[in-house]
Amino acid sequence: MFRHNVIIVGGGLAGLRTALAACDTDVAVISRIHSLRSHSVAAQGGINAALGNNDRWEDHAFDTIKGSDYLADQDAVEVLCRDAPQRVIEMEHWGTLFSRTEEGRIAQRPFGGAGFPRTAYAEDRTGHALLHTLYEQALRNGIRFYEEWLVTKLVVNNGKCSGVVGYNIVNGMISGFQAKSVVFATGGYGRIYRRSTNSIINTGFGCSVAYRGGAALEDMEFVQFHPTTLFGTNILITEGARGEGGILKNKNSERFMERYSPHSLELAPRDIVARAIQTEINEGRGFEGGYVNLELMRLGTEKIKEHLPGIRQIAIDFASVDPIIKPIPVQPGQHYSMGGIASNKNCETAIPGFYVCGECSCVSVHGANRLGGNSLLETIVFGKIAGENAKNYANITAFEEQDIIEKAVESETKRISGILDKNEGEAFFIIRDELKTVLDEKVGIFRDEPDLNLALAKIKELESRFKNVTVRNKSTIFNQELVNVIELGGMLDIAHVICIGALARKESRGSHYRLDYPARDDANWLKHTLVTLTPDGPAIDYKPVNIMLHQPKPREY
Ligand code: FUM
Repeated sequence: MFRHNVIIVGGGLAGLRTALAACDTDVAVISRIHSLRSHSVAAQGGINAALGNNDRWEDHAFDTIKGSDYLADQDAVEVLCRDAPQRVIEMEHWGTLFSRTEEGRIAQRPFGGAGFPRTAYAEDRTGHALLHTLYEQALRNGIRFYEEWLVTKLVVNNGKCSGVVGYNIVNGMISGFQAKSVVFATGGYGRIYRRSTNSIINTGFGCSVAYRGGAALEDMEFVQFHPTTLFGTNILITEGARGEGGILKNKNSERFMERYSPHSLELAPRDIVARAIQTEINEGRGFEGGYVNLELMRLGTEKIKEHLPGIRQIAIDFASVDPIIKPIPVQPGQHYSMGGIASNKNCETAIPGFYVCGECSCVSVHGANRLGGNSLLETIVFGKIAGENAKNYANITAFEEQDIIEKAVESETKRISGILDKNEGEAFFIIRDELKTVLDEKVGIFRDEPDLNLALAKIKELESRFKNVTVRNKSTIFNQELVNVIELGGMLDIAHVICIGALARKESRGSHYRLDYPARDDANWLKHTLVTLTPDGPAIDYKPVNIMLHQPKPREY
């Protein structure tokens, strides 16, 4: 068994920033992969902060709240936007090479739903630049890493968190990690969908482990679809491409955003642009196969090479298109999880000693629709807060009895051996593929009651088939099949929770668009969904939204 004062699960930006904030105590990071391969590395377009030049954090907060369709908690948004400049400058001082203006200041580009060009960037590889900076700082501070460990259980005893159980992917060992406080920074659940910009590892497993450990999941029905993912592979084509001046055209060469968002055009918030593209495709104005064109040619060679080199290379490598001379074929794809493990603005959950931050959490600063550039920001603002609070809690708390963790290890060992011991049954990938298909087709950008009912029935059928899943590979060394099976159980949990939240929410708000209830309904639905796991299955509850300065208004762009 291992023991640390603070255990952080997840080695991406949020986890690393948490570790740095707690590094003057005994802290360790457990990560399913090497930190530099975490999904944070894939973030492209940038990070939001009101860095001056007549921009104000209050304006950033207003844009975030309006973008969220008024579902964000305004106290948490204030924390995010007020702290943003300091955190971004801190990253710069730690070594992030941001792109620069002619005067040598940090360059900022326009992004969707923002009233000011406030997205700081490092070309179109911002996540890469930030992640390397934090990893270097983690090494400098001697942070202990446990790489290639999948955390399968949150250990909660008498309502208090006392550690986790992990499965070592390298050698099959199952071990306990005793801790005074635990922070989950395990990322999003995008890969329960097939069409997604997310890394394969983003199965939402951390959310499921927390849910099974007793934590509530909040607002899971709000799934973000990025408007522009590369047709075919769904690799992200950054919003920065539109921020730099790229425009969208349908097969009739019509700049269709003029009809959907006459003022903001391609820089309306993501939910609006994604719905517009999908509507063009559904109504027959997309290209064969289901895409529209993103034209960058008008930017000119120099700007594309200087500001969007990664996008150019992706388009050349994966679509055989050089955006300097031809449009990029794009379609919407799942991109981000607004929902997550319920927490307050201090990153505390309802379980003492258990903290969350980053995409796996729902603080909630994004509400029903996140603005581009706010997720990288969330990782470093709330990572710092989670780390400080987990450390402070650990400083005044004693370790629980060791046998609590030992018992948890015993039961996980039994459970995982049980999966391995089964010789007959269904292969995991059949269930996983059917899950992805039903979510893509029935729980996507547009939803309605009949489709959601069909999806829920299918998910229940898959849950029952999952009990009979078999693992053909019995090895203890890098048994990826076993890892896939363990994670599939979590994917089914998450899909179930999304589906019941979406069925219950009889309104349209942000990314959750119900064809049968197309209007936002503040009188009945200005509230957060909470789902907890009970002995009878998932149970839904609601809690109020924290409204401060900004009363809900119709969203116009
Ligand atoms: O389009 C993008 O570059 C994505 C940014 C984000 O999700 O914040």
